Amino acid sequence: MEDRIITSTYTADDQEIETTLRPRRLSEYIGQSKAKENLKVFIEAAKMRNEPLDHILLYGPPGLGKTTLAGIISNEMGVNIRVTSGPAIERPGDLAAVISNLNENDILFIDEIHRLSRSVEEILYPAMEDFVIDIVYGKGVSAKTVRVALPKFTLIGATTRAGLLSAPLRDRFGYISRLEMYTTEELVSILKRSANILEVTLEDSGAEEIAKRSRGTPRIANRLLKRVRDFAQIKSDSVITKQIADMALNMMEVDKLGLDTMDRRMLHAIIKNFAGGPVGLETISASIGEESNTIEDVCEPYLLQLGFISRTPRGRVATKLAYDYFGIPFPEDGTTI
Ligand SMILES: Nc1ncnc2c1ncn2[C@@H]1O[C@H](COP(=O)(O)OP(=O)(O)OP(=O)(O)O)[C@@H](O)[C@H]1O
Ligand SMILES: [Mg+2]
Repeated sequence: MEDRIITSTYTADDQEIETTLRPRRLSEYIGQSKAKENLKVFIEAAKMRNEPLDHILLYGPPGLGKTTLAGIISNEMGVNIRVTSGPAIERPGDLAAVISNLNENDILFIDEIHRLSRSVEEILYPAMEDFVIDIVYGKGVSAKTVRVALPKFTLIGATTRAGLLSAPLRDRFGYISRLEMYTTEELVSILKRSANILEVTLEDSGAEEIAKRSRGTPRIANRLLKRVRDFAQIKSDSVITKQIADMALNMMEVDKLGLDTMDRRMLHAIIKNFAGGPVGLETISASIGEESNTIEDVCEPYLLQLGFISRTPRGRVATKLAYDYFGIPFPEDGTTI
């Protein structure tokens, strides 16, 4: 997992480039036009009324720009953003402390919001709805509840798993936005912008080659660019051509569609060991020795997008497209869906 170049989750390696490459304004944020259009209107309206924005939930696979968008919203609103995450808020008191330190209209960004504990979630409800928090003192019959007023704030939640959010929490968001995978053209624009900032010469055809192999994910595109740049430095006077990109990516075992060994192992397991499926996630996980969370967050979204697998109530199924891609004859006898 550590060496997986195309993992969409954040790695230590990304830190250096992500801070320099992260867009700060909505105008620099490429793609996601639907979310952008809506947010533009909400931001403008909230600013005119001098009110905090409605609470916003951003969801989608890792590396598509949720954290980036939260930062942009705070910049466009001209307010502070306080960043925390579901697992970091252990007790209700932790959350109370964070929120009461916010200024009016500030943004509280909770990453991995699906991992909040139930007791924390419950104090979030009145905080989101009425900007109050109920603090309980003492225990049993002598327990007393004190209601404390909070500054009016905006909660931005981010999650890779909207399905794991409880319905009452989800319902309290005024705007829910699902981030989509990026098209090759959008990734080309992102790569060109990044190349500019990093001062790398990136030819159009080179950008396109990297974009096609980035799994619709800006984080991966930027990471591949950085690796290809190193390669280009040694092999071609630092110019990234299509040929250089192709050579570098082949060496990293990222194939023409951006699949790596882990995706291939997963697909092979479904096809060879389980006759194309349906097979449960846990079974796949045990058979290839990868965590089921990793498979679900990192491999599956892209394989689903490509149409290489489908999800059924009984498990995952490899489609004809996947068989074709690997040159394996598709069983037409009805044993596979
Ligand atoms: N729309 C975009 N335009 C340009 N660059 C982008 C865009 N979205 C993301 N990026 C780049 O991709 C990187 C990763 O994005 P970000 O950290 O926001 O993803 P995320 O969705 O929060 O991922 P995670 O689920 O792992 O937290 C950013 O540092 C940024 O450089
Ligand atoms: Mg993030």
